Amino acid sequence: MLTAEIRRRFLAHFENAGHAVVPSAPLLFDDPNLLFVNAGMVPFKPYFLGQETPPWPTATSVQKCVRTQDIEEVGKTTRHGTFFQMNGNFSFGDYFKAGAITHAWDLITSSVDDGGLGFDPDSIWVTVLHSDDEARSLWKEIAGLPDERIQSRGLLDNYWHMGVAGPGGPASEIYVDRGPEFGPDGGPVVDEDRFLEIWNLVFMQEEITNVRAKDQFDVLGDLPNKNIDTGMGLERVAYLLQGKGNLYEIDEVYPVIERASEISGRTYGKDHTDDVRFRVVADHVRSG
Ligand code: ALA
Repeated sequence: MLTAEIRRRFLAHFENAGHAVVPSAPLLFDDPNLLFVNAGMVPFKPYFLGQETPPWPTATSVQKCVRTQDIEEVGKTTRHGTFFQMNGNFSFGDYFKAGAITHAWDLITSSVDDGGLGFDPDSIWVTVLHSDDEARSLWKEIAGLPDERIQSRGLLDNYWHMGVAGPGGPASEIYVDRGPEFGPDGGPVVDEDRFLEIWNLVFMQEEITNVRAKDQFDVLGDLPNKNIDTGMGLERVAYLLQGKGNLYEIDEVYPVIERASEISGRTYGKDHTDDVRFRVVADHVRSG
């Protein structure tokens, strides 16, 4: 499935469920804590914090993002990049955990003919925060997932915040099992290459401060509402649905490599060092 079609299906799924479709904000956004927008929720932060009233109860977007923490890995692995697009759906005090899980499950497992993404339900694993029994029960009830495909993790993996003071909450991540040829069995807690994360559902309900590390912060209190913030990696889903060996070979990115190959007179796929260079060009040029 083309990347453009995945994007279209995502937005249509949430628009049909009453969400306002909001265009991507520019990468440079007026937030004193950020050099670049790094998540779909950034433009909506004042709504989560209760500083502004949202014009709609729910929204959906495909947000351009840059995350630089893995910049040294770009091009060397099959899946790291700095520029990516985040498909998101957001609820500002409207639906909460059950709604977020229902929407996500329907989109990923509905058949392609029915407008979904057509993932095999048996290939889906999820993680929840260890104390979040409610999310575990909802995954069983709504998706019929067996207990062993719902794995519990601590704050480091399953609590999401912006890395600075602001909104945060327990997260539930959705993974696709790519099969035994990609690594050992045992779910995402064992191997995050074989089990590839595609979507993070954040139950945004607290305001945090004094962030010392990903898993060390103080909770100031509850946000005015219980909100939903999600992020699906568009290029990752394309990579899975297009059966490519590398994120840089999907339909929206590969043309950059082809053009760089024409200009440089070198060939992609012949030499590891050149391939890394091609992928770095393809990654960085997309943020331009
Ligand atoms: N804000 C969440 C994330 O970036 C969805 O993973």
